Amino acid sequence: MRVAIGADHGGFEMKSQLAALLTQAGHHVADLGNRVFDPDDDYPDFAIPVALAVAEGQVDRGILVCGSGVGASVAANKVAGVRAALIHDNFSARQGVEDDNMNVLCLGGRTTGAAVAWDCVQSFLNAQFSGAERHRRRLAKVEQTEKALPQPRP
Ligand code: RB5
Repeated sequence: MRVAIGADHGGFEMKSQLAALLTQAGHHVADLGNRVFDPDDDYPDFAIPVALAVAEGQVDRGILVCGSGVGASVAANKVAGVRAALIHDNFSARQGVEDDNMNVLCLGGRTTGAAVAWDCVQSFLNAQFSGAERHRRRLAKVEQTEKALPQPRP
């Protein structure tokens, strides 16, 4: 599978570990940074490129790591066509794809252990969207909102 991966300083170490494991497992990994550890870098600078790579079809899935995974998921979800979620467990990693067609997995480098993170990544990559009618209906409602770009009321 073609996988784009990115992280800020909070996820830098975990990203390096995951990129190595993904490569060993035979995936094509596009590391979209940060390529060096920079304690002052900002998660949107890596989350947006990964999200765009997924939305544009350059890769099949994206993986983002920041300190908590929260900022990365918030940023990635601003890109149309991206369905990113912060994941802490194997069940959600699999079901997030099967039911919700999640295409970007977000992890917390400071909150999730390396073994659990790798388990989540494998479940995420091995899962496929079920295509069930009820899930398509729910996702269509999400897409409708994305297209309409509603603004908050003052
Ligand atoms: C950076 O220190 C930290 O705020 C960031 O990695 C992330 O946790 C944000 O959600």
